[in-house]
Amino acid sequence: MPWRAPPGAVPDPYRVWLSEAMLQQTTVAAVIPYYERFVSRFPDLGALAAAEEAAVMEAWAGLGYYARARNLHACARRVAALGGFPRDLAGLRALPGIGPYTATAIAAIAFGVPGVPVDANVVRVAARIGAVTAPLPGARAAIEAVATRLGEDPAARARPGDFAQALFDLGATICTQAAPTCVLCPWREGCAAHRAGIAADLPRKAPKPARPSRFGAHFWLEDAAGQVLLRRRPARGLLGGMLELPGTAWRDAPWSAAEALALAPVAASWRHAGTVRHGFTHFTLTIEVYAARVATIGEAAGMARPVAGLGAEALPSVMRKCAAVAVEETAG
Ligand code: ADE
Repeated sequence: MPWRAPPGAVPDPYRVWLSEAMLQQTTVAAVIPYYERFVSRFPDLGALAAAEEAAVMEAWAGLGYYARARNLHACARRVAALGGFPRDLAGLRALPGIGPYTATAIAAIAFGVPGVPVDANVVRVAARIGAVTAPLPGARAAIEAVATRLGEDPAARARPGDFAQALFDLGATICTQAAPTCVLCPWREGCAAHRAGIAADLPRKAPKPARPSRFGAHFWLEDAAGQVLLRRRPARGLLGGMLELPGTAWRDAPWSAAEALALAPVAASWRHAGTVRHGFTHFTLTIEVYAARVATIGEAAGMARPVAGLGAEALPSVMRKCAAVAVEETAG
């Protein structure tokens, strides 16, 4: 993992912080290419603090939850003003976008402060070692108490960063969700769930309420010069400040073609290009994508951007899916 310091080297707090922020969004495998691109563009805290917000949003696009990109930038500026990262939990907690997990992770990994950062991997490992059978989310406090107790072992206190990352790796490779490989586990003997034969059943989860459905329609308007019409979302709220294809509001009921096309950015011969589904944290969105070609985009509200350059724009994943559907339809 490119953010890890080699054995014996002092970790770079900037890289630790950045990797933890990214790893809260998605998996290690998905983070690696984003991380590599991000650090080659912003190699240190000073570079990130000095960057334009739009450039940061663009480098973050696709990682989801864009408020985090804004917080990341605000945090870089605050830390640059402080002259470096605070080296203790309270100082780290006071920074924008840094919650208890990230503060504990940075303190342990970058500064060797004892403590166990409890991410989803550590929840699983600790729930099993302590045989916590109550369901999440209610069992969270009991599981954290097990994790804290594990971190009080003298060997863990001597190397908190290695201990934390070993727990992450154990959870990612051996103590996995569906099929823990207990025969390979160095902690087998100390694991109460393994002894009771219930490791694969933990942690238990209370059933989740179904995510509500929402519906929208978005429009791919392409001109003869190979440009597409985009607009910027409002700065605050879901996907704040990101670009999107112009579209309708997202509502609780599907949009008929007639209802949607009445809200198209221009009158044109619109074709239905396809349907995109995207899961957000709090709802599932279904988008009907309509496409049309015009000679020039001209007076339509928004901004015309080259289709060939869309990969580098601050387009969220849901809009990348819409663009892909439209491009395929237009080509076909
Ligand atoms: N998940 C969160 N932080 C991590 C790290 N430093 N290494 C691997 N997985 C992680």
